[in-house]
Amino acid sequence: MKILYMGGGFVGACSAAVSADSGHEVLVFDIDEHRVKKLNTDDRDVIQSCLHEDGLAELLIRNRSRISFVSDIKIVEKFISDVEVVFMCLPTPEKDGAAGETDLSYYEAAVDLIGRPLANRNNGKQSVRVVIVNKSTVPVRMIDYTEELFSEHGVKNFGIVSNPEFLVEGAAIEGSVHPDRVVVGANLPEDFLIMRKVYQRFVNSSVVKYLEVNPHEAASAKLLANFILFSKIVTTFDVVGRVCEYFPNLRYEEVRKILVSEPRIGAWGLYDSLFAGGSCFIKDAGSLAHQLENAGARASLVRGILESNVFQLDHFFGRAETEAGLDWVGRTVAMFGVAFKQGTNDIRNSGGVAVVQQLLGAGVNKVKVFDLAATEECKKYFANNPHSGRIEYCENETETLKDSSVAILCTDWPQFETLGEVFKSVVKPPYLIMDGRRIIKSWYNELISLGFDIIAVGSPFMKSNK
Ligand SMILES: NC(=O)c1ccc[n+]([C@@H]2O[C@H](COP(=O)([O-])OP(=O)(O)OC[C@H]3O[C@@H](n4cnc5c(N)ncnc54)[C@H](O)[C@@H]3O)[C@@H](O)[C@H]2O)c1
Repeated sequence: MKILYMGGGFVGACSAAVSADSGHEVLVFDIDEHRVKKLNTDDRDVIQSCLHEDGLAELLIRNRSRISFVSDIKIVEKFISDVEVVFMCLPTPEKDGAAGETDLSYYEAAVDLIGRPLANRNNGKQSVRVVIVNKSTVPVRMIDYTEELFSEHGVKNFGIVSNPEFLVEGAAIEGSVHPDRVVVGANLPEDFLIMRKVYQRFVNSSVVKYLEVNPHEAASAKLLANFILFSKIVTTFDVVGRVCEYFPNLRYEEVRKILVSEPRIGAWGLYDSLFAGGSCFIKDAGSLAHQLENAGARASLVRGILESNVFQLDHFFGRAETEAGLDWVGRTVAMFGVAFKQGTNDIRNSGGVAVVQQLLGAGVNKVKVFDLAATEECKKYFANNPHSGRIEYCENETETLKDSSVAILCTDWPQFETLGEVFKSVVKPPYLIMDGRRIIKSWYNELISLGFDIIAVGSPFMKSNK
């Protein structure tokens, strides 16, 4: 099949790579020329520096004859004449200051680019049916608006499908090659048939749930799934973690062990942390709350989860002053991790980035940042910040710790689990370690005995006994 992708970000690039691997002829259009250039190379490191996803570079390079990335719309106009499927993989962020309302301007701009060429396909006869697939996470009623947008451009003989993406960043390729489920929401049998051709490798699979529903059900299930996952992470730090911080004699890992042994609770999400970040959970919960309120319903639980997430970040950062009596002014702080989680270079809604901002606002002298993948993204993010001169980017753990008197651990990169050893050899107490992931939990007792003070999510303040 000939498949066009609009948007070659985490979702577009990963999904397109898997489509090409399934034997389809794939063109990906993206307005970001730098991204397009990088994703078109056969250099694994260059691809990885653009989208840090295990296996993506290998898949793209292996299927190079069937997939290309372009930023020239003229190439799309030629390709579109007999295209069967268009995947819309555009950003759908929250509108600024709009209490969760989705900003559809990227989506609308993409429709403006392909609307006319689609209406002109097959010399204007539009004889080949085309299916427009919403892979972006969109409001429940988006299907109706999509129909309106394409019709306004004179597009005919088209179907609209809602096919939400459930990939997990950091394991996106694995998740796309071996998904738990593929959800296809359509209204017409012919559109279901086209989508079965796209996903032939999954339709009769014994391990993948191939679910066919209506488009509103598909779109709503994506928002609801993200909310349930988000609320589990927030419940973990705002209730489970808090109980372990406020009551004596509770070891978080021991309490967790008991909780996760109950199959109805399960283990996913029960890791304490400083924030539930990333590009999706927050904006999707905001969108859900906004849609519910607009429909006249109550959204207080959704709003409460959003508030608790913000509270956690402030609470974690504030503990340095309230519990350890620390004054930030003039300090050099070592920051471990700015990616919103391990395995990715994505810093959207990252707890680590928010902490860097808090540190700059609190008057520190220097923030020394170290991350395994997201340094370049962080540099771009802070490039125009008036205080960016106070951020120093480091190459390794030792360099990061030098001259610091506080360290903050924000990303759960597995490599950070051994940081205890580096603390012991590079810095001397008095020294405050703030562990926003409990990633060095196995070192707490030893470090306290050596004179380090530790604030960790899910534990009361651990003051050195020296
Ligand atoms: N990242 C995830 O983990 C994830 C998971 C599931 C669903 N989603 C949803 O998928 C959608 C895309 O997310 P993403 O993470 O891939 O975003 P992204 O920002 O990584 O990628 C979006 C891409 O679209 C491009 N773009 C913007 N305007 C364009 C236009 N007019 N024409 C063509 N390209 C354009 C951007 O340059 C960018 O490369 C969002 O709705 C998101 O909520 C994301």
